[in-house]
Amino acid sequence: MDQRIAIVTGAARGIGAAIAQRLARDGFAVAVLDQNAATDTVDTITTAGGTALAVEADVTVTEQVDAAVAEVAERLGPPTVLVNNAGITRDNLIFKMADDDWDAVIGVHLRGAFLMSRAVQRYQTEQRYGRIVNLSSTSALGNRGQANYATAKAGLQGFTKTLAIELGRFGVTVNAIAPGFIETDMTAATAERLGMSFADFKAGIAAGVPVGRVGQPEDIAATAAFLVSAEAGYVSGQVIYVAGGPTD
Ligand SMILES: NC(=O)c1ccc[n+]([C@@H]2O[C@H](COP(=O)([O-])OP(=O)(O)OC[C@H]3O[C@@H](n4cnc5c(N)ncnc54)[C@H](O)[C@@H]3O)[C@@H](O)[C@H]2O)c1
Repeated sequence: MDQRIAIVTGAARGIGAAIAQRLARDGFAVAVLDQNAATDTVDTITTAGGTALAVEADVTVTEQVDAAVAEVAERLGPPTVLVNNAGITRDNLIFKMADDDWDAVIGVHLRGAFLMSRAVQRYQTEQRYGRIVNLSSTSALGNRGQANYATAKAGLQGFTKTLAIELGRFGVTVNAIAPGFIETDMTAATAERLGMSFADFKAGIAAGVPVGRVGQPEDIAATAAFLVSAEAGYVSGQVIYVAGGPTD
């Protein structure tokens, strides 16, 4: 029974790329799933001697998700680890938020995680082993300008706990990581939208973080590495805040 096949969504860059690289280093064959070409992530992994497969799919489209997961099963083996990381932001105050800002964000985070998890749990329950990790956020607790994103990230916490209850008997654990501010293209775009340099934006955030720095994608990858490990089998339905300090 091969329990070492992982799918990481949104892994062409940022946190997903760091998680894919870390899991590959830990011995997983990793399917690097993204709607954009994931050549960089796959090249980094294979150059370091790991196994990676680029899979192009939009996590909001059922047919693409089902085909992508079937391709992984065929080419790498049954996927037992899934990291639902793909995400977008469409920030705006509620009075300016368009229908599409709402639908797009809810779609990628919630529908995306649902479609991916439904497709992968089939293999996990067959194998009687599995790990699902969902990327939530400290924004789940409320964040100005992010009614859509905060709702999606809070929703993922309910999704996590429910799947933990449903899938536990099959040896599948389901947990969420809720990162604070992590330095990626996503947060660089936020700085740009606010009209600030990324350096000033990061310095301002770091000043309010108890450990005195912003987070790096590797901080999240290290937490994901633990949650997908065999030894984390008694940790399920949890939301782990990785934010350099406690959150409210
Ligand atoms: N950066 C942060 O500070 C932070 C904090 C908390 C949570 N998060 C969450 O972590 C995850 C990764 O964030 P990041 O900062 O690395 O973002 P990012 O924008 O750098 O990368 C996101 C990746 O997801 C992919 N993606 C987007 N929509 C997709 C779709 N429909 N189908 C397939 N792939 C899709 C993108 O192509 C991209 O490669 C997201 O879920 C985000 O909400 C990030």
